[in-house]
Formats: sequence, structure tokens, C-alpha cells
Amino acid sequence: MGDSWTLCPLITGLLLVSVPVLSAAQQPHVVFVLADDFGWYDVGYHRSEIRTPNLDKLSAGGVRLENYYVQPLCTPSRNQLMTGRYQIHTGMQHQIIWPCQPSCVPLEEKLLPQLMKEAGYATHMVGKWHLGMYKKDCLPTRRGFDSYFGYLTGSEDYYTHIRCVPITALNQTRCVLDLRDGEEVATGYKGVYSTELFSQRAVSIIEKHPSTKPLFLYTALQSVHSPLQVPARYEAPYSFIKDPHRRAYAGMVSAMDEAVGNITLALQQRGLWENTVLVFSTDNGGQTLYGGSNWPLRGRKWSLWEGGIRGVGFVASPLLKQPGTVSRELIHISDWLPTLVGLAGGSTNGTKPLDGFDMWNTISKGFASPRLELLHNIDPLYNDIAPCPGTRRQLTLAQAVSSGFNVSIHAAIRSSNWKLLTGYPGCAVWFPRPGQNSSESEDPLKPVMLFDIEKDPEERNEVSAQFPTVVDYLLSRLQHHQKSALPINFPADDPRCDPGPTGAWGPWA
Ligand SMILES: *[C@@H]1O[C@H](CO)[C@@H](O)[C@H](O)[C@H]1NC(C)=O
Ligand SMILES: *[C@@H]1O[C@H](CO)[C@@H](O)[C@H](O)[C@H]1NC(C)=O
Ligand SMILES: *[C@@H]1O[C@H](CO)[C@@H](O)[C@H](O)[C@H]1NC(C)=O
Ligand SMILES: *[C@@H]1O[C@H](CO)[C@@H](O)[C@H](O)[C@H]1NC(C)=O
Ligand SMILES: *[C@@H]1O[C@H](CO)[C@@H](O)[C@H](O)[C@H]1NC(C)=O
Repeated sequence: MGDSWTLCPLITGLLLVSVPVLSAAQQPHVVFVLADDFGWYDVGYHRSEIRTPNLDKLSAGGVRLENYYVQPLCTPSRNQLMTGRYQIHTGMQHQIIWPCQPSCVPLEEKLLPQLMKEAGYATHMVGKWHLGMYKKDCLPTRRGFDSYFGYLTGSEDYYTHIRCVPITALNQTRCVLDLRDGEEVATGYKGVYSTELFSQRAVSIIEKHPSTKPLFLYTALQSVHSPLQVPARYEAPYSFIKDPHRRAYAGMVSAMDEAVGNITLALQQRGLWENTVLVFSTDNGGQTLYGGSNWPLRGRKWSLWEGGIRGVGFVASPLLKQPGTVSRELIHISDWLPTLVGLAGGSTNGTKPLDGFDMWNTISKGFASPRLELLHNIDPLYNDIAPCPGTRRQLTLAQAVSSGFNVSIHAAIRSSNWKLLTGYPGCAVWFPRPGQNSSESEDPLKPVMLFDIEKDPEERNEVSAQFPTVVDYLLSRLQHHQKSALPINFPADDPRCDPGPTGAWGPWA
């Protein structure tokens, strides 16, 4: 950055104003790496048995976010990252977007890449979209990205890039390609492991990037979502792990760690690193059914327990004012939009009212977080779709209405150290540390539960009876938020999604 500053007066003097050069000199490159289903206990620096030397080293020289929250599922986290708004404000509070649903992030929402583009950035996306694609206007290239290479649905085969979807109306399961370059179907990548495919694409974008323009690169890796697939060389170091799911998963994490290492190296070799802000984040907690672990946190992906929503995340950048620190300030995935647009010197003009906060001073300088409250979600239609060991999945909860809020509804809210949950929060098990047997019996759940997350991050000590005024206050806050919620948009599958036996998943409307 020093070089650029010294050039500025000279250029200004000679050319009066040279906007692109001036802004490029001051605007940092922003590289956002989003991991998929990466659990709390699956990163080396949380003392996992899985080795992540690149993530450990980058975060050790950056700022580790240890009080950082994401949403419990793929689409919701990506939705909030791209809009800076809670799901209740986009009608997307329920589940994910399934491949045949005619639904996408509402087109009147202005997304992060559009704002970065308006601030003068080149905007590129690689990897998983999962924000809807039933019509062309929903595609990443129509929503602010100059280029896109990746898949549109939520999961697929890592090598063939094929996604199988049951189409009930046609009484068959369709298995076809889901991979696109721009808006065109991308053939010819069969057999290339997606972690390598996507990181190579990210590296090539960095190598070709003109240094005069600021770069916004969003890399949403397929790693480490199911299916459990990994080249043998990544799994080989984990022969000591007996559980074959965990062993394959560990290999997948190693591949992802290498991908992040490659992307960082490319930024350094291209000379961009000194002016880059790199954010690494998971999209939700680990899925214990497919090798992930959130130990010692309770629950997992698809639940509002800490195991579902407390995310692995860090920022690495030579621009940080206090590198090498750990942040325990409350930060949420919806905060990235105002934070990154602020760093870009851009404007959030044109967005709808944001739920996120600009966290740059919190992350870079250690200032107190401006976020005093965090609505995790309110979803009156919630249902758990995966088997949960030892749990009554269908809880009959009292139809109690307290402080105006219907506490049968699946909801959770955080305010400073307090977290209140209502309804059925999802799989409530304390899954054991990988390699150990479960000895945890589950507490009976109540319609209203209060935890002091700072003292009790494992959610073992339910204290609603001791703090009735806190309970009343948080219920009134839930009621307040519920009043601003849009009706849930969760349309029935549209059989016209069927691409036919030789097609590819993509827009049909
Ligand atoms: C669906 O397909 C199965 C297997 O091909 C067949 O047995 C069944 O009768 C079909 N059901 C309908 C409603 O067409
Ligand atoms: C990282 O780069 C090396 C060297 O180019 C390459 O062999 C490897 O496949 C890359 N790893 C990933 C995950 O892309
Ligand atoms: C915000 O955008 C609107 C419409 O594009 C424009 O009229 C207005 O001047 C902008 N405001 C600011 C503060 O940039
Ligand atoms: C409370 O919410 C539950 C779950 O969404 C719903 O089934 C029930 O009808 C609601 N009760 C009232 C009184 O609104
Ligand atoms: C877990 O339990 C099984 C069956 O009871 C036992 O064989 C095994 O040794 C136990 N493993 C550990 C790590 O305690």
C-alpha cells in the first residue's frame, strides 16, 4: 500500500484525477472462501485430530473469530452473506432451496457482488451457488458476478459433477450434470476432483487479474459436504482414524486446506497479497452423519444448538491493525456485507434495511462489536429431516403463548451472553469426540430454554427458571422480530425442472 500512496500525488498532479488508479490503490482485494459443512472441531487450531496447517498458519497471523455465528444450513447462510439481512426478511426462513423449487433470493434484493461492482471491483465467483436458479435472472452472473464457474444446487458428486434429484411428479430420479462456466453448461471436467477444480479456477482468476483493478473473489468450495469422496493421497495420512466416515472426511479437510494454501500462494505470487483481505468461513456446523464434528458443542448442522451455528471463521490480511489476535466479539455472517462494502469504500445504497453491522474496526482493531443482539432464526414450519440418535424427533410441546410469542415455534435469539431457544431446536445430542463412545444422555427438552452461552457454550445448564425477566425480554424480542417477518416462501417442486436424460440442472422457467 505504501507504494500506491506515494504515487497518488504524482498521478493527481499530472492527470488531475485518475479515478481507477486512485481507487485501485486504496481499495483492498477481497477474497472470501466459504467452506461447506465444516465443523467446529474439524480445524487444527481447535485441537482436532485433523491437520489444517494452512488454515492454522493464516489464522494465527490474522484474527480468529471465536464468537462467530453462521446459519444452520447452506442456503440460509449464503443468503445472509449475500444480502446482509436475516432470513425472516427475505421469506427464506425455512430449509434450503431444493433443486426443483421455483425459488431464488428475491430479485429486488441487492447482493454483495453488485455493491462491490458498483464500488469498482472485478467480481468473480467459483463454486456452489445454492441461492436459486429456476430462471436466468437468478443466476450469479445476473446478480453481480462478472464471471462464474461452479454448480447451482446444494451438493453433487465431487468427480462426475452429477446431481441426482428425485422428481416425484415424474416418478423417477434424474441424474445429470450440474456445472457451469458463466451461464453455459461446462462439460469436460469429469474425473477432476472439485476441490482441485475450483481452487485451480480461483488461482487462474488471480493470475489473470489486472493489478489496477480491485478484486472481489468469492470461492464457495464444495468441501467438505457429503458425499464423502477424496483422492487417496489426502486420506492416506489418516490411517490412524478407525471410523471410515471420519477418515474420508479428514482427507477432504486436508484437500480443502491445500486449496486455501494454493489460493493464498497465488495472491502472494501475483503481488496482490499485501493489499488483500482474506475471509475464511464455514457455512454451518458439521454434519455428524457424514464425518463432521462440532465437539464439544451440542447438536449439529440443521439445528439451532451451538453445534449448528457457531462457525469456524477468521480473517487474514496484512491490513489488519492487530494481527495474531483472537476475537471474542459477537459477529455474524450477515455482517460481512456492510463490512466488505465498507472496506471497498462502496455504498450500501440500494439495499433493503440491513441486519448486519460493519465489523472492520472490531476485527482489525479489537473494538467492541456493535452487534448487541443476534436473531438466529424463526421458522414456524421447521422439521428435522435426518435421523438423530436417541431423540424423540416429534416433540409434543405445550401450545403455550408467552409474551405474545408462540413458543411452539422453532426459534432462537442471542443477546450478549444469553441465548433463548423455543420449540424444537433440532437434534439435541452432545455428540462425542471422534473416536470416543457416547455416554451422554439427553436432557428432556422444554418449550423455552435459556443458556448463558459465555459460561456454558455446551448448553448443558438450562436456566430459564432462574432468570424469568431475561426470558420475558427475549420472548418479547422474538415477538418483535416475528412481526417483521415476511411470509415463508417455500413453493412446491415444479416438475418442469426436469432437464431430461441428457440435460443439466439449470433455469427452466
Ligand atoms: C413408479 O415407478 C415404479 C418403478 O418403476 C412403479 O413400480 C410404480 O408403479 C410407479 N408409480 C407410479 C405412480 O407411476
Ligand atoms: C495445489 O497446487 C499444487 C501445485 O500446483 C497442485 O498439485 C495441487 O493439486 C493443488 N491442490 C488443490 C487442492 O488444488
Ligand atoms: C442512492 O441511490 C439512489 C438511486 O440510485 C440515488 O438517487 C441516490 O442519490 C443515492 N444516494 C446516495 C446517498 O448515494
Ligand atoms: C404455534 O406454532 C405452531 C408451530 O408453528 C403451530 O402449529 C400452532 O398452530 C401455533 N399456535 C398458535 C396458537 O398460533
Ligand atoms: C466403544 O464401545 C465398544 C462397544 O461397547 C467397545 O468395543 C469399544 O472399545 C469402545 N471404544 C472406546 C474408544 O471406548
